[in-house]
Amino acid sequence: MRLAPSVLSADFTRLGEQLDVLTASGVDCIHYDVMDGDFVPALSFGDTILKNIKDRCGDKLFLDAHLMVTEPARFVEVFRKAGADNITVHAEACKHIDRSLQAVIDSGAQAGIALNPGTPLEMISEVIHKVDLVLIMSVNPGFGGQKYIEYCTDKIARLSKWKKDLGLDFSIQVDGGVSPANVKKILDAGADNIVAGSAVFKNDIAANCADFREIMHF
Ligand code: DX5
Ligand code: ZN
Repeated sequence: MRLAPSVLSADFTRLGEQLDVLTASGVDCIHYDVMDGDFVPALSFGDTILKNIKDRCGDKLFLDAHLMVTEPARFVEVFRKAGADNITVHAEACKHIDRSLQAVIDSGAQAGIALNPGTPLEMISEVIHKVDLVLIMSVNPGFGGQKYIEYCTDKIARLSKWKKDLGLDFSIQVDGGVSPANVKKILDAGADNIVAGSAVFKNDIAANCADFREIMHF
């Protein structure tokens, strides 16, 4: 089980301090949401902050870049150079999914493929054997703090069954609206990697991590 706090919800004036609280709380991964104002409505950040995080705690944190950008293959090298250990691209954002995933694989990063809530699992059937991670979005991407979309739980369960049937071992990551209140049903459906932004960074980070850890045992 892995908890991947999304730094989108961090206080960037205190980022280093907040990362230290996370690592002291047993967290070993950071989720880094890149938004381009085109694939999703909002803008977030580029590679500079990722590089800063890498320099400060790259030995303690696995860096998971979630590229919510149109034609993400254009940015794979940039984020890999900045320190991304995993790079996830959206199936909906690539004209050529195989080519985009191959660019990630060739960069030496682990490769993730993301699906929006309304995108069927079948969209990735031909490339599923190439990936290290499948990201099931449980909100429409673009903003932190949205409500978990309930029908996604069934999609996670279907992906988990599909993975077993195929004998594959990719990670199943879920992103959007996850909190200690609903994480158990998401894990029960088959997820092993949980992204959480507002539920980790609001108020007391250490206490929030402890609440997740009690259920997730990371
Ligand atoms: C949404 C991003 C998420 C976001 C999650 O587009 O991909 O990673 O930070 O935030 P919460 O956990 O607050 O829904
Ligand atoms: Zn994300």
